[in-house]
Amino acid sequence: MCGITGYLGGREACPILIDGLRQLEYRGYDSAGIALVNECGELHVYKEKGKVQDLEAGLAGKNISGHLGIAHTRWATHGEPSAVNAHPHVSSSGRFAIVHNGIIENYAVIRRNLEKKGYAFKSSTDTEVLVQLIDYVASCSDSDTVAVLQEVLDEIVGAYAIALIDMKYPDRLFAARKSSPLAVGIGDDEFIVASDISPIAGNADKVMYLGDEEIAEMHRDGSLHIVNLSNAECRHEILAVPKNLGRTRKDGFDHFMLKEIFEQPSSLTDCMRGRVDVVGKTVTLSAVREHKDRLLAAERFIIVACGTSWHAGLIGKQMIENFCRIPAETVYASEFRYSNPVIRSSDVVIAISQSGETADTLAAVELARSKGAFIYGICNAVGSSIPRATDTGSYIHVGPEIGVASTKAFTGQVTVLAMLALDIAREKNTIDDRTYAGMIEELASIPEKMRVVLRTNDSIASLAKMFTYAKNFIYLGRGYSYPAALEGALKLKEISYIHAEGYPAAEMKHGPIALIDEEMPVVIIATHNALYEKILSNVQEIKARKGRVIAIVSEGDTAISDIADTVIEIPETIECLDPLLVSVPLQLLAYHIAVCKGKDVDRPRNLAKSVTVE
Ligand code: F6R
Repeated sequence: MCGITGYLGGREACPILIDGLRQLEYRGYDSAGIALVNECGELHVYKEKGKVQDLEAGLAGKNISGHLGIAHTRWATHGEPSAVNAHPHVSSSGRFAIVHNGIIENYAVIRRNLEKKGYAFKSSTDTEVLVQLIDYVASCSDSDTVAVLQEVLDEIVGAYAIALIDMKYPDRLFAARKSSPLAVGIGDDEFIVASDISPIAGNADKVMYLGDEEIAEMHRDGSLHIVNLSNAECRHEILAVPKNLGRTRKDGFDHFMLKEIFEQPSSLTDCMRGRVDVVGKTVTLSAVREHKDRLLAAERFIIVACGTSWHAGLIGKQMIENFCRIPAETVYASEFRYSNPVIRSSDVVIAISQSGETADTLAAVELARSKGAFIYGICNAVGSSIPRATDTGSYIHVGPEIGVASTKAFTGQVTVLAMLALDIAREKNTIDDRTYAGMIEELASIPEKMRVVLRTNDSIASLAKMFTYAKNFIYLGRGYSYPAALEGALKLKEISYIHAEGYPAAEMKHGPIALIDEEMPVVIIATHNALYEKILSNVQEIKARKGRVIAIVSEGDTAISDIADTVIEIPETIECLDPLLVSVPLQLLAYHIAVCKGKDVDRPRNLAKSVTVE
């Protein structure tokens, strides 16, 4: 993962780079660093363990002038989070400084070879190996920097996005990428490279995305040359930087996560805008219009995703099968890519990703594409790698999600999947008019019902105080609520560090019921739906073993409310849309427990917002 950025131009590099790192912190935040070349041609490198704010504090009183610089915010892969392992890494000769996002898989063998040649290493990172190799290859010939990079990168196995300073050319900035994203912002005689467009927005009007195995050489006079590893010149479309990439703020909320939970009524309204027409009683996704023949001819849908997006995919599978009567499966992208899957050209592969950058999902897309499947992306980050690698798709349009724990992206993904299933089902004639019209009406009413659910915030905050003692939690649901239970458990794990398991409620008696005792909180999704009576029995089984039941029930429920220890009431909706409402109290419960435990809710330990390594 990690976020990288670099600047070359007429302005002071440091503030631009630090600001860029703040934008990129969602990619990792265990350490950060910056390298700056000042007007005397000296290289200064500063690194800190911790977040970008720690780096910024460490820069006070230091020599931070310079018009060329590179910077990095890290999510550790090789080597623990520490100042030594933080980037930039500088080669032994002091000629090269590098920041890197990705993984060099053959770093160990390269390191051994370099050690034999006398190179000493300070850190445990694969990145230091890369910069030392660049140094070594450069020392063996008079080749220019680009030729050196071509030779080195050809030898590298793995993924990289790099920004490089060569002190021999202090008026140039070099960048290259393979499998990790890199955007090049182009201003007036200045360049900003970055892992995504956010550090560029507000600093440059134009942007282009470097292709795989390409090297960019930027000059202080404003010229830019791009070649690939075979030295062929490469050209890319220069795009306008979107004007509306506004800064995200907490708007009075204590955390981005809470703000994003509360944003869901409006983010889902945005998600459905222009797509769900309540008056005309239609759902229309432009991608379905444009690729109708291909989508209607699909013999199977395969949904690939990771984490929360995978949970949304489990719901999407049920919707597609229920409404479109087309077989569908949902697979972890990380498993799919290495499972030698049977993929046919009649398959449609749906890739779901909030960030659009998840390495495993991107690799699954590339694999499916190479086998001739049609690829449909469901992403949030506009212009990110997955939407660019798919045949078509629908953005969820829920706005930037900053909190590491995904909330509004999940409900946006489920909403797009519902719209997709409905639109295809209508075209295929596998849905009757009444169900179709009822679904549209209900979808349109979800934002208002969510507002009602959000009123439970205070009571959930009080409830949370009672559960900070817990070391384990169980989350149960059935049918559409089972993926919602998995999602609830994931939210709790990632931000409160409490172990939590999601289970299909009826599976309890096949093993996990042994865990139930008076200490065990069990969150059970027990809304009014076809399996309500079955869930009621499951609740009784847990109460008989003295488990502490927190039940999410439909307004007016009596049967489960009578036996559960605590109930959270939510408005009724159609069963397949239940996860949209149910997920709100689950998000709030996880949030408040984490806050009570004093955890860093928006930036939980060991995690990053965008998982760009496999
Ligand atoms: C959990 C969470 C992660 C992501 C997963 C996939 O709250 O955020 O599990 O869902 O890393 O990320 P995307 O959707 O960006 O592909």
